[in-house]
Amino acid sequence: MNVSIRQIHPVFVGEVSGIDISRRLSRDEIAAVEAGMDRYAVLVFHDQKLTDEQQMAFSRNFGPLEDARGGNITRPEDKRLQVGMNDVSNLGKDGRPLDRESRVRLFNLGNMLWHSDSSFRPIPAKYSLLSARVVNPVGGNTEFADMRAAYDALDADTKALIEDLVCEHSLMYSRGSLGMLDYSEEERAMFRPVRQRLVRTHPVSGRRSLYLSSHAGGIVGMPMPEARILLRELTEHATQPGFVYVHRWRPSDFVMWDNRQMMHRVRRYDESQPRDMRRTTVAGDAPTTVQVQAVSSA
Ligand code: OGA
Ligand code: MN
Repeated sequence: MNVSIRQIHPVFVGEVSGIDISRRLSRDEIAAVEAGMDRYAVLVFHDQKLTDEQQMAFSRNFGPLEDARGGNITRPEDKRLQVGMNDVSNLGKDGRPLDRESRVRLFNLGNMLWHSDSSFRPIPAKYSLLSARVVNPVGGNTEFADMRAAYDALDADTKALIEDLVCEHSLMYSRGSLGMLDYSEEERAMFRPVRQRLVRTHPVSGRRSLYLSSHAGGIVGMPMPEARILLRELTEHATQPGFVYVHRWRPSDFVMWDNRQMMHRVRRYDESQPRDMRRTTVAGDAPTTVQVQAVSSA
């Protein structure tokens, strides 16, 4: 095995070489990637030409895939990709860019807000893995913010204030902040708010991190405006340039990140041109409100 990982940002992000993720990996290779995730939280791989089957097989090395139902408003019959694949492209089933007024397109614009994938689910996602099949000619960078570095840099009073806070997350909050306020009864039921701790501890490294997301729209026991101001302040703090890595996509790039410790967002791009990005998501293993204690005290 000759996997090697080089840190490419002052506080996080590893660039991986010496591995072909389209193939079945050895135990050592899987362990090396896992250790890289625990340490760097975002891993970048170049020149990984993948089929959807290969992407799903690689992702399953790190746990079962998340059940994607309930995470978007695309009807099953309108889906472009098979079950197991999350379509984060700007394309419809016909392979062409969605119309400007398309509700699916407008909903997907929410990916341009800082978020952690599936924080609106009772058990939120562990890893997300994103494969660049067609890169857009203008913009479309993906940015990552390190919520461990952000937590570490808080002052002691703020750390004490937020230690045991629990937030309410819903897709209706993130989309509501974009002015999308109309949902069917069925969608409202699907988007019912869920509770997540604001401070998480990583099960392997023991590092603490801020668990923020555009889906967070309230804090249990706190008046709404006060909660929203606090969440905004923390988000501004957490996404300052020193904690952010900007990924400029090349075709066949593959990036995986740990949603428990990172936020991300995509930047605007030319939506008249295709941007075909395909994500797989590894499921989390427990609700954040019953946080598993760290195995190490590092
Ligand atoms: C995602 C996401 C960003 C992008 O896949 O979860 O937010 O660059 N995508 O498309
Ligand atoms: Mn996302």
